[in-house]
Amino acid sequence: MRAFAILPVAAMALGVAVLPVRGAPDGATLFARCAACHTKTGAGVPGVYPPLNADFRALATKDAGRRYIVLAVTRGVMGPLTVEGKPYAGVMPSHGTIDDAGIAAVLNHVGTQASKTGPAFKAFSEAEVGRLRASGASLSPAEVGKLHAGAGGK
Ligand code: HEC
Repeated sequence: MRAFAILPVAAMALGVAVLPVRGAPDGATLFARCAACHTKTGAGVPGVYPPLNADFRALATKDAGRRYIVLAVTRGVMGPLTVEGKPYAGVMPSHGTIDDAGIAAVLNHVGTQASKTGPAFKAFSEAEVGRLRASGASLSPAEVGKLHAGAGGK
């Protein structure tokens, strides 16, 4: 027992961070998966991969938009979509294997680090992601895409 009590102190003395046993998911790390298409900054590739910027922030101000965002990531999304004036007709694969806490973390990373234009960003909680994911658990990527037009994006 004694040795365990001393461990954190020893770690601190060595300048090593004492990590919790089960850490919160890291949005920046998870975002690497998104950056493969949406790019590191979230700027995207015009006409191919939409930017995660003004449309994202605008969507995140409305319930319908928050639902669309969560379902786009958990179910996948297929256009046609118009994002910041440009048409997109590709397919985003589902990232539904990421748990609710991880989806919240990656969306909060997008909302604060990638998406810089538009209204203030309200963070997603794990519980909200769980509720919104469940609300569209049987939707296809094309059905999710149809939600975009009425969800308050740019
Ligand atoms: C394989 C490429 C790819 C990956 C990986 C990917 N996306 Fe996408 N994403 C797309 C494409 C393509 C679209 C638009 C679909 C279309 O063209 O119809 C899209 C659309 C979106 C949208 C809707 C944007 C809008 O304004 O309507 C969000 C939000 C989004 N992605 C978030 C993410 C997040 C978060 C991740 C990482 C967890 C991610 N994407 C990973 C390709 C990808």
